Amino acid sequence: MLTKLTGDFEVMWQQVWWLLFGLETNSKLNKQPPCSAPKTQVEFEYDGPSMKTEVPGPRSKELAKQLGEMQNVGAINFFCNYEESRGNYLVDVDGNRMLDVYTQISSIPIGYSHPSLMKVLSNPNNMSAFVNRPALGILPPENFPEKLAESLLSVSPSGMSRAQTMACGSCSNENAFKSMFIWYRNKERGHNNPSEEDIRSCMINQSPGCPNLSILSFMGGFHGRTMGCLATTHSKAIHKLDVPSFDWPIAPFPKLKYPLEEFTRENAQEEARCLEEVEDLIVQWRQKGRPVAGIIIEPIQAEGGDNHASPDFFRKLRNIAHKHGCAFHVDEVQTGCGATGKFWAHEHWGMEDPADIVSFSKKMLTGGFYHKDEFQPYRIFNTWMGDPSKNLLLAEVLNVIRRENLLEEVSRSGKALLQGLYQLQAQYPNLLSSARGVGTFCAVDIRDEATRNSILIKARDKGVLLGGCGDRSIRFRPALVFKEYHVHIFLNVFNDVLAEYN
Ligand SMILES: Cc1ncc(COP(=O)(O)O)c(C=O)c1O
Repeated sequence: MLTKLTGDFEVMWQQVWWLLFGLETNSKLNKQPPCSAPKTQVEFEYDGPSMKTEVPGPRSKELAKQLGEMQNVGAINFFCNYEESRGNYLVDVDGNRMLDVYTQISSIPIGYSHPSLMKVLSNPNNMSAFVNRPALGILPPENFPEKLAESLLSVSPSGMSRAQTMACGSCSNENAFKSMFIWYRNKERGHNNPSEEDIRSCMINQSPGCPNLSILSFMGGFHGRTMGCLATTHSKAIHKLDVPSFDWPIAPFPKLKYPLEEFTRENAQEEARCLEEVEDLIVQWRQKGRPVAGIIIEPIQAEGGDNHASPDFFRKLRNIAHKHGCAFHVDEVQTGCGATGKFWAHEHWGMEDPADIVSFSKKMLTGGFYHKDEFQPYRIFNTWMGDPSKNLLLAEVLNVIRRENLLEEVSRSGKALLQGLYQLQAQYPNLLSSARGVGTFCAVDIRDEATRNSILIKARDKGVLLGGCGDRSIRFRPALVFKEYHVHIFLNVFNDVLAEYN
């Protein structure tokens, strides 16, 4: 009806919002955006959390019972009403509305139900991309090159002009590993033509066809849960238990002291120790006949506890990879797409040649990896090879990021968030420590795991969704539309929660 009145979907969306929620008043959590804030679509969202039942509420419990008859529901927190979820607010099936500072494990780029994304879906020209999912590797649609250029290639990392799409983070890394191994073997052979022996032996999982090569990863790293990725994942035992793995080298990741700028000397020593170990491991594994074909690392170890290292560490590591002929794979599945205030977290290193491979997923909506020309993944293949409908959505996400200067917004709200965490850390020294972060990609340590877990639940009960990482950290992973006034809403609730522990 409203569409008929206005003929404009975005206007309609605003009208509906005002009709439904504009008159609602809220408690002390109700912070209005500052008058100076530019009016954007995403500001037409709810004005604060609103909790109606315990979480999970009765409807969620009922649905969990139903689903439990068909699937394992052990990890389900509650069921969601995505139709009602807007911007930074996730609404559950019991009508509870929560400020989402975790965003589906860091994978919602511009908030829920963003009007610009709704528009992509309602555009008749896009229908076919959503209805007809192609086997992209053999039968891509006519507009695929154009859409790839508009989306992924418009944000290529420095030195990379090629991108291979995939479905999820794990399968992006898994296939990137294969690209590195193939690259390494071609380098060893001096050409791309496998021998008869290579071909015969690979069929029975033997070398030289299936060569004894390895990927060096870091303790505390997380790169996914498929078999190859899992061999490079070292964040929690529960991910790895009972699954056979490879004999690949694992280097220590620096354990730094925060705030970084106060401990530069100690931290530099710790980083030097780890880099030395990396070189030793590369030499050792070569000697034992299992050379390191590639090194994989996250710019900030996320799942493993939001562990940071300095740009200098990454620059030196990149040089070590060069020196020993190893490919350098930067896993930006969680750090990519703006959360650190730069589009790619590795841009903070200030390098022209930061990596050979950069993998992505989560906020990018499609998985995949960028690569240098020489990593042509010509034997990398699966049925879907990504999903062109996700490229349409990504192109629009990128438009919104540019149009609304979201990277600047992230830097601004990130500063407010970190400042707020520093203040709370000073106020509750027995509870909080090591507040850290870049952009809104922030974290803080809690005194022990049990307290961390109980804080997460209390915050949720008061309408703020947060996630844990490592043994006792809380990680903040809001969408890019998380503004300074959302930071203040969060800090108010967090303060109330922490006060209960004093
Ligand atoms: C850094 C990193 N790499 C890889 C993955 C795996 O991605 P997915 O869960 O999409 O397989 C994750 C997921 O959390 C991640 O954080």
